[in-house]
Amino acid sequence: MIDFKCSLGDFVKTEDFDAKVVEAQKFVAKAQQDDFGGWVDLPVRFDEEEFARIKQAAARINLDSDYLVCIGIGGSYLGHRAVIEALGGERGHTKIIYAGNSLSPRAMEKVLSELGDKDFSINVISKSGTTTEPAVAFRVLKQKLIKKYGEDGAAKRIYATTDARKGALHEEAVTKGYETFVVPDNIGGRYSVLTAVGLLAIAVAGIDIDLLMDGAEEERAALISDGGKAAEYAAVRNLLLEQGFDIEILANFEPQFTQFNEWWKQLFGESEGKDGKGIYPASVIDSTDLHSMGQYIQEGRRNLFETFVEIAADYEAIKVPTQDDNLDGLQYLEGKELDYICKTANAATREAHLAGGVPVLEVVMPELNERSLGALIYFFEMSCALSGFTLGVNPFNQPGVEAYKNRMFELLGKPGYEK
Ligand code: PA5
Repeated sequence: MIDFKCSLGDFVKTEDFDAKVVEAQKFVAKAQQDDFGGWVDLPVRFDEEEFARIKQAAARINLDSDYLVCIGIGGSYLGHRAVIEALGGERGHTKIIYAGNSLSPRAMEKVLSELGDKDFSINVISKSGTTTEPAVAFRVLKQKLIKKYGEDGAAKRIYATTDARKGALHEEAVTKGYETFVVPDNIGGRYSVLTAVGLLAIAVAGIDIDLLMDGAEEERAALISDGGKAAEYAAVRNLLLEQGFDIEILANFEPQFTQFNEWWKQLFGESEGKDGKGIYPASVIDSTDLHSMGQYIQEGRRNLFETFVEIAADYEAIKVPTQDDNLDGLQYLEGKELDYICKTANAATREAHLAGGVPVLEVVMPELNERSLGALIYFFEMSCALSGFTLGVNPFNQPGVEAYKNRMFELLGKPGYEK
């Protein structure tokens, strides 16, 4: 179960906190009943037939492919990339690489050159099938696949995760006979990592998706009646925003969480940044970024707060070796676990930043494994929904994402988008 802690004496009054928590709690039922609230009950109500097919497809891909190219953008790839990297990367034969999350020709060249003449499969993930970035990448990579395996061979290596009934990719998959998985109608991209959108790549990476779902289920049980710790986090965020703290930095002392931070930024940014409102989500990986962003956080404009994601369990792996001299001044640390030094740096950073006027929140996962990560994902999803509703926005839509697309289509000359 995920724990949430805050020491906010100077920033938030207890009575305000209590009242805001009660406000946030009311939105659990609203999220559950929302047309896009399918993620709330997902851990206890997922399609078991599809879940089994995901595992079968993952096993097949590990047998016949050196690479799986995951094509998708935003909610269609950030979640599974976050999970795979947070848990230390691929454990099986197949290496996972990503395409269609930018329009960079250099990025595409890099993917093509890494693939070379290796065996590969594609998981194209797009609800609409017409999102420009993944659609362009799919064309390019499909051409390479067909050249290598022929039309029929290629079709057996394309796994399409898309709308169950309609859309360009759905139609193509039905026509060509690709194996398909479903992007549910009632779950938006940024809440979809525990659906087939995320699970196929995660399973291909050799990660136990049963345990991931178990963790989400346990966290759901902890939050479903009154929002639990997620309601507290949602309440504190809103109270801090009311006092002008409009930037939240997700801070993590584990570099494996770099992509998790990106997933979290989309979740909160796309959910809350609308109607002229929202907290701007930023992130750091410490202690690395203490040597670049630490100065600003300690002494810059006082409009930011930090949420530290911590792993409670100890990780006994590497100790500081002894040596004859003390030229580096490290004798006092000899024999100490690196994990102890890392955790101490984390505690020191929290204390220093708090003393510098930065409200500090802590989200604590018991350990770094599938179960805890499933719980953490569910905790943030619930917190985000409750926080967004408390803020007075719809945390499940993203109308602003269309603006750049419309202008891009006009400039590219897409029919129907002339000025
Ligand atoms: O969270 C979202 O809804 C977005 O990030 C979408 O996932 C992203 O824009 C991709 O859309 P599509 O799945 O239609 O290609």
